[in-house]
Amino acid sequence: MNFNQNSTPLFDALKQFADNQPTSFHVPGHKSGRIFPEQARKYFDPVLPLDLTELSGLDDLHGQGGVIDEAQKLAASYFGAEHTHFLIGGSTAGNLAMILSVCAVGDKIIVQRNSHKSIFNGLELSGARPIFMAPKFDDSVNRYTAPDIETIRMALEQHRDAKAVMLTYPDYFGKTFEIKEIIELIHEYNVPVLIDEAHGVHFSSGRMFPDSVLTFGADAVVQSAHKMAPAMTMGAFLHIQSGRISNSRIHHYLQMIQSSSPSYPIMASLDLVRAFLANLSARDLELIVESARETSEIFDFSDYWDVLPADDPLKITLQVKPGITGGEIAGLFERKGIYPELSTNHQVLFIHGLVPFAAFNQLKKAIIDIGAQLKNKRNHDIINIDNLFTERLTELDLDYSAMHHQQITQVPLQQSAGFISAEAITPYPPGIPFILKGERITCNHIRAMKELTQQGVHLQHLDINDGIKVFPSTSNQ
Ligand SMILES: Cc1ncc(COP(=O)(O)O)c(C=O)c1O
Repeated sequence: MNFNQNSTPLFDALKQFADNQPTSFHVPGHKSGRIFPEQARKYFDPVLPLDLTELSGLDDLHGQGGVIDEAQKLAASYFGAEHTHFLIGGSTAGNLAMILSVCAVGDKIIVQRNSHKSIFNGLELSGARPIFMAPKFDDSVNRYTAPDIETIRMALEQHRDAKAVMLTYPDYFGKTFEIKEIIELIHEYNVPVLIDEAHGVHFSSGRMFPDSVLTFGADAVVQSAHKMAPAMTMGAFLHIQSGRISNSRIHHYLQMIQSSSPSYPIMASLDLVRAFLANLSARDLELIVESARETSEIFDFSDYWDVLPADDPLKITLQVKPGITGGEIAGLFERKGIYPELSTNHQVLFIHGLVPFAAFNQLKKAIIDIGAQLKNKRNHDIINIDNLFTERLTELDLDYSAMHHQQITQVPLQQSAGFISAEAITPYPPGIPFILKGERITCNHIRAMKELTQQGVHLQHLDINDGIKVFPSTSNQ
């Protein structure tokens, strides 16, 4: 096969099909855009002719051979993988497929506790027996980042029968860690490494960014192409690059998880994005990173926050000073028409794109205006969350299959010690589950939750006055 990275076989086939203005007696019902709600035509018209289905010449995502297969092979060759699968259900679908492909009911898998919810869902679907590793608190960025290598070594030593280790790299804020050494360590135990690299698809495009885990031999890697590269939302890649992972099992689970009518515009955007990344020149990348640096300097021009150091130059994180919350700052930017990616209690994340930024003056003016609005803000206490996860390795107290057969009830928080929680309780900050579904609630948990609430922390899935959802027959009191 010709691996010319300028070529976009899937997009070209779609374009050619649409340009021939075929008569549609097939799905989708909008018939290449001829039938569509009038009020939205203006916005959808350009894309609808490409929103096709498995017609002659357009291949089948779940089949083999044809333009989708060609596009996936081109992606594999660019990213340096043995196989690449196009995902139309985001990294979410990839995380589910990775876990299902390695774990049957009761199989052990070592996972970091601060993982995306798709990973917890994958664990539950597979019925695996997760060994959770606590992340360490990193003072340089005021956040929990990843488990340290010693915790990973401890997990591998104690659980030599683990089927895989699943890590997230980089974190949402572009923070990296000693992943090369960690992958080498895990491979010494001959255990496959699964990586959620949802936020690192651009790492393959050049030395201006940290290295992708694919360069260090991770066995299976998911990347959301829609997050950091200009693919359509839900477009993502799943790369496989070792015999430790069965590509045919991955394929089997992907066709279970993903739609049998995958979106061609999303798949074509993956084809285009691979070509886009492959064709970024060293000069393009220099200009992008220079623009991100300049943008970061402009953000730093404020008395109300500091810009945190970043491993990924495209991630700009503001650490807000006591007296204001990240949410308030985000709200003020939004009122100026500038939308950040996310805010936590004390941080706000902005993501620079893969072209130089153009609106420096608008940004400067907004920052000056926001500064004026923030004058004389009342101080509030700093929230103390750096000691939440004291145990380095934990396991669930009730396995997923046993949970499946249990009824759920609600008990007052004060009386919940000894019960097993029926849902994860996640404080924001830090946005990491403090109690997981299947973990036993302790008096320490209850005390900590009360303290967190008193500090103004929001507990997702828990109104402290309503009580907590538990499996009723699990009380050990
Ligand atoms: C670390 C991480 N993994 C996976 C996902 C899921 O990605 P997607 O939205 O592509 O399904 C997210 C989404 O924010 C994420 O932050």
